[in-house]
Amino acid sequence: MNLAGQHVLSVKDFSLDLINHLFNIAEQMRPYARREKITRVLEGAILGNMFFEPSTRTRVSFGCAFNLLGGEVRETTGMSNSALAKGESLYDTARVLSGYSDIIAMRHPEAGSVAAFSEGSRVPVINGGDGPNEHPTQALLDLFTIQQELASQSLSIDQLHLTLMGDLKFGRTVHSLCQLLALYKNLTIKLVSPEALSMPTKYVDILENAGHKVTQTQDLEAGLKDSHIVYQTRIQEERFTDQEEADRYRGSFRLNKHIYTEFCQPNTVIMHPLPRDSRSQANELDNDLNQTEGLAIFRQTDNGVLVRMALFAAILGVDGQIKNSERNVNWFTGLANQRS
Ligand code: NCD
Repeated sequence: MNLAGQHVLSVKDFSLDLINHLFNIAEQMRPYARREKITRVLEGAILGNMFFEPSTRTRVSFGCAFNLLGGEVRETTGMSNSALAKGESLYDTARVLSGYSDIIAMRHPEAGSVAAFSEGSRVPVINGGDGPNEHPTQALLDLFTIQQELASQSLSIDQLHLTLMGDLKFGRTVHSLCQLLALYKNLTIKLVSPEALSMPTKYVDILENAGHKVTQTQDLEAGLKDSHIVYQTRIQEERFTDQEEADRYRGSFRLNKHIYTEFCQPNTVIMHPLPRDSRSQANELDNDLNQTEGLAIFRQTDNGVLVRMALFAAILGVDGQIKNSERNVNWFTGLANQRS
């Protein structure tokens, strides 16, 4: 698949070759994301950034990525602020708004909604998360981060030992990530969650059919032991019909300094799609890990900009022209020279 002019609705559309191509473009975006250089390759283009569900980093990093390529961003946030609240169909909204944009990023609480929206759109649509179903750009940035973190330890993704932990039932980021991991070989994957929030069978099957060794456990020590990477998730309370049920699982399988030191290997990388729920009754990823070198959560968020810039450039067909409009930055920026 060539990304030019395409929708990005699911990770299913990505082959290893395409991922490697995309990550190559993402690497070229570092100087612009670090404000060492400017490119205006998307000058005049408009992103319709439409978020019908709460979002901070996905929404802002889509917008920031587009701005860093020289494009403009128009935002619609919240269902009640759009004509969807007046009963307009996703098709009609898409038909109208695609007349105002060159590309659209969209998040919506219902599974399949972004695909339905794309049918009415005359421009490419990127899925920013559709209910509990998929979150392809998060999975791509997670994979990019996994590769980067492993490379810094001279390891590669084939033969990775990975723990996915928390709400694996409703967590769309891990659903998309599992499908990407199925493209690799010989992984050992441990799934740690309350039984009621375990990984849907279809994703376990995808991993097993790829030849990976998958273990499901509620034993924290067994789940964390020997993993190179632990990927923690938040209880997706917004997906529960019964809030008391969400309360019951909040706070199970926490990761903090004590547990990390006790059960994990010394260089274990900690990931989380964020936001982490830092309220005391949840606190699935404790602040006492903030100074731990293996904590990669903010490297993930920085990588999100690179990967989303790469997607925009590839989908809009300008990935070969990024340097043509390159200029130096002439303001002081604290972002240059930081690790990301
Ligand atoms: C995730 C999401 O929205 O699915 N957040 C994100 O986009 N980085 C995970 C979450 O909300 O828990």
